[in-house]
Amino acid sequence: MCGIVGYIGQRDTKEILLKGLEKLEYRGYDSAGIAIMNDEGVHVFKEKGRIADLREVVDGKVASTIGIGHTRWATHGEPSHLNAHPHQSASGRFTLVHNGVIENYVQLTRDYLQDVTLKSDTDTEVVVQVIEQFVESGLEVEEAFRKTLGLLKGSYAIALFDAENKETIYVAKNKSPLLVGLGDTFNVVASDAMAMLQVTNEYVELMDKEMVIVTDKKVVIKNLSGDVMTRASYIAELDAGDIEKGTYPHYMLKEIDEQPLVIRKIVQTYQDENGKLDVPGDVADAVAEADRIYIVACGTSYHAGLVGKQFLETWAGVPTEVYVSSEFSYNMPLLSEKPLFIFLSQSGETADSRSVLVQTNKLGHKALTITNVPGSTLSREADYTLLLHAGPEIAVASTKAYTAQIAVLGILAAIAAGKRDKELSFDLAHELGIVANAMEALCDQKDEMEMIARDYLTVTRNAFFIGRGLDYYVCLEGALKLKEISYIQAEGFAGGELKHGTIALIEDGTPVFALATQEHVNLSIRGNVKEVAARGANPCIISLKGLEEADDQFVLPAAHPALSALASVVPLQLIAYYASLHRGCDVDKPRNLAKSVTVE
Ligand code: AGP
Repeated sequence: MCGIVGYIGQRDTKEILLKGLEKLEYRGYDSAGIAIMNDEGVHVFKEKGRIADLREVVDGKVASTIGIGHTRWATHGEPSHLNAHPHQSASGRFTLVHNGVIENYVQLTRDYLQDVTLKSDTDTEVVVQVIEQFVESGLEVEEAFRKTLGLLKGSYAIALFDAENKETIYVAKNKSPLLVGLGDTFNVVASDAMAMLQVTNEYVELMDKEMVIVTDKKVVIKNLSGDVMTRASYIAELDAGDIEKGTYPHYMLKEIDEQPLVIRKIVQTYQDENGKLDVPGDVADAVAEADRIYIVACGTSYHAGLVGKQFLETWAGVPTEVYVSSEFSYNMPLLSEKPLFIFLSQSGETADSRSVLVQTNKLGHKALTITNVPGSTLSREADYTLLLHAGPEIAVASTKAYTAQIAVLGILAAIAAGKRDKELSFDLAHELGIVANAMEALCDQKDEMEMIARDYLTVTRNAFFIGRGLDYYVCLEGALKLKEISYIQAEGFAGGELKHGTIALIEDGTPVFALATQEHVNLSIRGNVKEVAARGANPCIISLKGLEEADDQFVLPAAHPALSALASVVPLQLIAYYASLHRGCDVDKPRNLAKSVTVE
């Protein structure tokens, strides 16, 4: 979703800002802009489309040592040059970029801007105009900024500069992510550390409802009452190489290939000195002692949660329910007496999930966040955090975070099972190692996946994924992968459910991918395949070694059936990847989507 960068220091800012915005491209956006300031005044460059388009309009001759930049994912007002950030106040004195949603912008316009003609359709412009109104009424800039922040309802990360002060960037945050990065002769602002890793790896976290005065030498954090807050910086443990594609044509392919390594790293990380699976602190006790677990997540993370439910229930014996965050927020089920909430989120910033966490925190319930991003909002606000250790995931379509979430949930469930005297009958660390090998073997069979994608998906307008039990959950994920990056309408279905209505959509040639990795339902899912084939579908059966039949299109290497999701999702990810490629879509940055969904 939207991204912010800012720089104040000694170097020319243009390239730093543009490179920073390129690093935020993965979040999803539809326009971009930068504003820089020098002795001649403020120069704003913006463009609908990609950063490459913005580069075309930035005047290479204008130099400046202070600047702010933005990628916009449209919420209020269509993606356009006019609505792209930065926005300026009526006189042009103040220039501002903003992430988030100002819920009361209409009321603010009515109350403070009767005499101002707004130039854009955005909620953001209202903020910069209100600041100017307060300054014109006699307030100092910092005071006007603070007063405006106090009026805002909703979420924001803001960077602002004043044409009459070339020494300062004003920054503020509430519910939307924003960091300040530190340097010797400069300081920076960024939505995430990756954007500014080019100049620093030292960052300071900001809390909600804080504002920051950033100069090239100082960073002063204040709360909205004006009290100065002290906060230690931290070193972002990110390698600049982790966020490069290297020789891969797309991040998604790189991230699919990284999965075996990630699984091995997770096993290594969550082991004690004797090689026994272990998680830090008393989080496994919290799982073992809960009378019910509520997994709350969105999209791919929700799908990983469904697999995790199986582990928690069948291994640890803890009843577990899985909810889509945006529904849970206002449709909370009757809660048990001693619940534990698990928030699954690759980014740790998803607004829908955070809104649930805010509610459960208010109710005093314990929460665990499982995330890929240390220090992310969901991690900070939960009682416990377990990290995915998957390395940065840049492609919008989540792949390695999904398998990492399943592995971490599996390890957690196994440890909790031990605490409840329900030791697993197999060695999970060993079986995860076998699955990692299977994933590696699958990653080496890309040609076959490409062929399947070509044969089944090049011209179709829709596709179905069917499975039973764990396979059904993986089908939901396979369908999501395919639709988000290839724009083929795809549905994941429980094999037995198709005949209750959806089978009406099966026509001659409709591709139906069927997963058959679960012995106890192997015959039934094959029966479901026959039903669709009899109605003209073009089935593609992906089975597990040991359960295969002669005309299965693809057989997965043997793996523990409880962990089959980790292997069976790989061909589905690759098939989606190649389908997207064959159809000429933008694999890593699919239309309309954002990586980090920071609005509800
Ligand atoms: C998956 O490919 C998606 N891009 C999306 O469904 C994602 O999983 C969802 O938005 C949740 O994000 P999170 O894990 O960062 O909370």
